[in-house]
Amino acid sequence: MATAEKSTKADKASKTAATKTARASGTKGTPATREARKKRAEAVATKSAARKAASVSSKDAKSLSDLFEHALGDIYYAEKKIYKSLPKMIKAADHPELVQALTSHREETAGQIEKLEAIFGLLGKRAKAEKCDAIDGILEESESLLEDFGSSVAADAAIIFSCQAIEHYEITRYGSMRAFADALGMDEAKQLIEEILAEEKAADAGLTELAEESVNAAAAEYDDD
Ligand SMILES: [Fe+2]
Ligand SMILES: [Fe+2]
Repeated sequence: MATAEKSTKADKASKTAATKTARASGTKGTPATREARKKRAEAVATKSAARKAASVSSKDAKSLSDLFEHALGDIYYAEKKIYKSLPKMIKAADHPELVQALTSHREETAGQIEKLEAIFGLLGKRAKAEKCDAIDGILEESESLLEDFGSSVAADAAIIFSCQAIEHYEITRYGSMRAFADALGMDEAKQLIEEILAEEKAADAGLTELAEESVNAAAAEYDDD
């Protein structure tokens, strides 16, 4: 029974494939129906080309380069704000390795800002920050978390929690920008973005390790009492 079922299914599949092939090659039917099918296909292709042309001409003149430049201004704004926000988190952090990780990532951030300015230079533009609501929201939340948890036993865990949201935001933006630069053939910009992206990923991985290997467990001990 199982074999018969299998062979029926196989027969069906092969018939379907044969029909598809026949349709694709236009070999099915009389010469008149083949001709009619061909005409219909041509009409569909003409309509679709016309629709595509109309849709392109109705779009405004913004391009992928413009989007790249927007993303650059956006992340430039974000990095500058992150640089300013980090001292408060460093001050509230307790674990020496967390203090060290945040301090060295702040130094990296200063270098990233310079790299972004270099990319503006490659575009022949002056560095210009564009207000980014996403990072403003993430930093606002980290401020209020610091107020709520900054003096608690979960302070370090809360700081890592906030910082990883920042890192992930950065990773997604630099990931997209890397792909834009690649598509646009901007090799030097792509190289600089890849360098920054590697730093963000390393910072994120370091925080994960710190949280999972010591900070969370140390804080959780107080929950056991
Ligand atoms: Fe950064
Ligand atoms: Fe970062």
